[in-house]
Amino acid sequence: MGIQIAPSILSADFANLADEAAAVSNADWLHVDVMDNHFVPNLTLGLPVVESLAKAAAQPLDCHLMIEDPDRWAPGYVEAGASSVTFHAEACRAPIRTAREIRAKGARASMALKPATPIEPYEDLLPELDMILIMTVEPGFGGQKFLDVCVPKIRRTRQLLDQHGLELWIQIDGGVSADTIERCAEAGADVFVAGSAVYAADDPNTMVDKLRTLAEN
Ligand code: DX5
Ligand code: ZN
Repeated sequence: MGIQIAPSILSADFANLADEAAAVSNADWLHVDVMDNHFVPNLTLGLPVVESLAKAAAQPLDCHLMIEDPDRWAPGYVEAGASSVTFHAEACRAPIRTAREIRAKGARASMALKPATPIEPYEDLLPELDMILIMTVEPGFGGQKFLDVCVPKIRRTRQLLDQHGLELWIQIDGGVSADTIERCAEAGADVFVAGSAVYAADDPNTMVDKLRTLAEN
């Protein structure tokens, strides 16, 4: 396991995605935000872009589906080349079936929680998942301010996993920077998405290394 840093290409130049992936060659995963303008008030990209990027990028793709009806779409993202697929608890009708379909196709299954969605109702389905994504902003846009109110949920999620003897990753997404990453790591997170912090840095790769070092300490 260990700390994973996943830059979000939402903050990259969409006309140069292959170069933007190469600019974060030190990153463990590449985070791809899929938005449908229904689940969130923003529109980004879909299957054809993921399929091309999976061929062009050296890093595994971590697809975060901020879409309605992920039950229908999630397995297609594995076929398009994603190594992990995250659906939102608030949008998914059959999370166990969807997680099993993602895993059966060979990717990690992950479920995301918006800031106001608690982890506790999902305790019993944790063994069906490889990762929990705890949003630390309201999903939809990069560059938002980190929500400190979400940190206790990170800690409670790690406690639940420990109680059940489960080794899921806990991923944090939203407002992650050199200023906020340590409190998330201390609370039990080990996978960190960072969009604006990485791509606005003078050297994105140096920022990736800096974030990893801060999370590891
Ligand atoms: C927001 C997306 C994030 C976004 C994070 O809804 O899910 O992945 O790219 O951007 P920053 O790191 O700038 O908050
Ligand atoms: Zn995301």
